[in-house]
Amino acid sequence: MASVVARPHWLVFFLLGISSAQLSPDFYSQTCPQVFPVVKWIVYSAIVNETRMGASLLRLFFHDCFVNGCDGSLFLDDTPTFTGEKRATPNLNSARGFEVIDEIKSNIEMVCPGVVSCADIIAIVARDAVTILGGPDWNVKLGRRDSRTASQLAANNSIPPPTSDLDFLVSNFNSVGLSIKDLVALSGAHTIGQARCTNFRDRIYTERDNSEPMFAQVRATNCPRDTGSGDNNLAPLDLQSPTTFDNNYFTNLVNRRGLLHSDQQIYNGGPTDQFVREYYNDPRSFASDFVEAMIKMGDIRPLIGSSGEIRRNCRKIN
Ligand code: HEM
Ligand SMILES: *[C@@H]1O[C@H](CO)[C@@H](O)[C@H](O)[C@H]1NC(C)=O
Ligand SMILES: *[C@@H]1O[C@H](CO)[C@@H](O)[C@H](O)[C@H]1NC(C)=O
Repeated sequence: MASVVARPHWLVFFLLGISSAQLSPDFYSQTCPQVFPVVKWIVYSAIVNETRMGASLLRLFFHDCFVNGCDGSLFLDDTPTFTGEKRATPNLNSARGFEVIDEIKSNIEMVCPGVVSCADIIAIVARDAVTILGGPDWNVKLGRRDSRTASQLAANNSIPPPTSDLDFLVSNFNSVGLSIKDLVALSGAHTIGQARCTNFRDRIYTERDNSEPMFAQVRATNCPRDTGSGDNNLAPLDLQSPTTFDNNYFTNLVNRRGLLHSDQQIYNGGPTDQFVREYYNDPRSFASDFVEAMIKMGDIRPLIGSSGEIRRNCRKIN
């Protein structure tokens, strides 16, 4: 008798344990189906205005999810008594696109007030940015809630720096449940967007021997050797097609034209080389593994049930 009663309890706790089991693509199908066209239209307009914005928005999802899970913590502004993540090392003078998130949030609040979280908005935004720039499309799992706090320390410590070696990248991704295949597939996000000279200077000067000579020479033309000069000058992460979501990032790596140290690390004689070669040879394999990895990244420690809140304004707690 006792065991019969115990069984459902065990099952309930088991299901609660898998928090991502709570996320589902139709979470807003009754409460806010308008979220999809509203997000897509605003992301589309932002990209038409400035193509790079698609890349900037995709990156925000990564920077949110890697810091205590996909909980919208990245979007909280600093206050006199609270320090958020926007000025953490990986985000300072770098993370951008927050105005686009504000515009989306205020439009969504007009149609379905208090229903859609900022954490879910960025998940949809990231998908739409990829699709609009020519990448794959997929159903985004939803139902995340927003944090009531943020951690600059966690942002400093959880988002890997571009100076990372492969071992560090692998363990950093493993610590949030992502495999080496996910690491390579997600790094393929660098098929779009730009990086600042301060983040690739060492790669083109100190580490020159491990890059294609002409590539280092060309990149050096707008990235002076001395620290402090031209630090914010930009270069495309994918020199061939920085505004199209394709597999050229992997072509670059195979040709030793990875812009960041961390980029070239995933094709440098280690266990990740096989995936780089696969994605270089087969764009469809990249597209499907990227989708799978984005969904896994979106499953990192979401707030669900009655945890957190649905923020009315992504920049501050209710
Ligand atoms: C594997 C570890 C990663 C490292 C070390 C890394 C590092 C960086 C750095 C240093 C930049 C340039 C920032 C600047 O100079 O201001 C950058 C840009 C970017 N990253 Fe990553 N990243 C990684 C993974 C990812 C992932 C997983 C995604 C998304 C799925 C992503 C998406 C982007 C995008 C789209 C840009 C361009 C942003 C823009 O143009 O505004 N990165 N990344
Ligand atoms: C359009 O892009 C420019 C930067 O290229 C930016 O300054 C401006 O705020 C954007 N406008 C809108 C409406 O998004
Ligand atoms: C995060 O790193 C920056 C330096 O890049 C530092 O100024 C800041 O104090 C760090 N934040 C915390 C909470 O340690």
